Amino acid sequence: MAANELNLKKIVAEKAVDDHVKNGMTVGLGTGSTSEYAIRRVGELVSKGWELKCVATSERTADLAKSLGIEIYDVDDVGHIDVTIDGADEVDPGKQLIKGLGGALLREKIVAAASLTEVIIVDESKIVDKLGVRTPLPVEVVPYGHKKTAYALERQGCKATLRVSGERPFVTDAGNYIYDCKFESIDSPFFLESRIDVIPGVVENGLFLNTADVVLISHPDGSVTKME
Ligand code: A5P
Repeated sequence: MAANELNLKKIVAEKAVDDHVKNGMTVGLGTGSTSEYAIRRVGELVSKGWELKCVATSERTADLAKSLGIEIYDVDDVGHIDVTIDGADEVDPGKQLIKGLGGALLREKIVAAASLTEVIIVDESKIVDKLGVRTPLPVEVVPYGHKKTAYALERQGCKATLRVSGERPFVTDAGNYIYDCKFESIDSPFFLESRIDVIPGVVENGLFLNTADVVLISHPDGSVTKME
């Protein structure tokens, strides 16, 4: 198979499951097109008789998992989560991330915080020198006063665009809206996060700082490397 025909999302997702999921574990299932391959691999393990307790980071993930015969537990009905495998939109050299282009950032962050090990799976196109250069930063906001919230977000130096689904605002699993905030680049992610989090109306932001324990990256030649 030619290198450009390799499915880099599938390769990295399956390696993450094979290396990090053991029988009997509690597993967090991420959201997005890369995570989907990990969920399908977990489904194969369950159909072989493995006993896994799984927690979903979105309704979309829960629906897929259930269709594969995976039982989904509420995050509050499990103790700790042994490992969560999730995608990302950007990864910088210090393993800091932007997530949320799939709209699941709030639950993804709660599940990540409850996980002993957070494994991030990406192909090498997601690696950037600096966060924000490629993708906007998704910020979840409550619908009430969302234009005022967007104005306060723009005062942090970005262009904030309300995410839409057809003619209407995109609505998250928690019933909120998302503003995609495009910065030229994010020079100080910790400082920016502290500024965004104090804006009234902001529920969560897509900066996942000091969250990733392991970052696995697939490359066009089919290899998978671990970011050190
Ligand atoms: C979902 O809200 C996101 O955080 C995803 O993890 C991220 O967008 C990666 O998605 P893909 O694997 O589809 O690129």
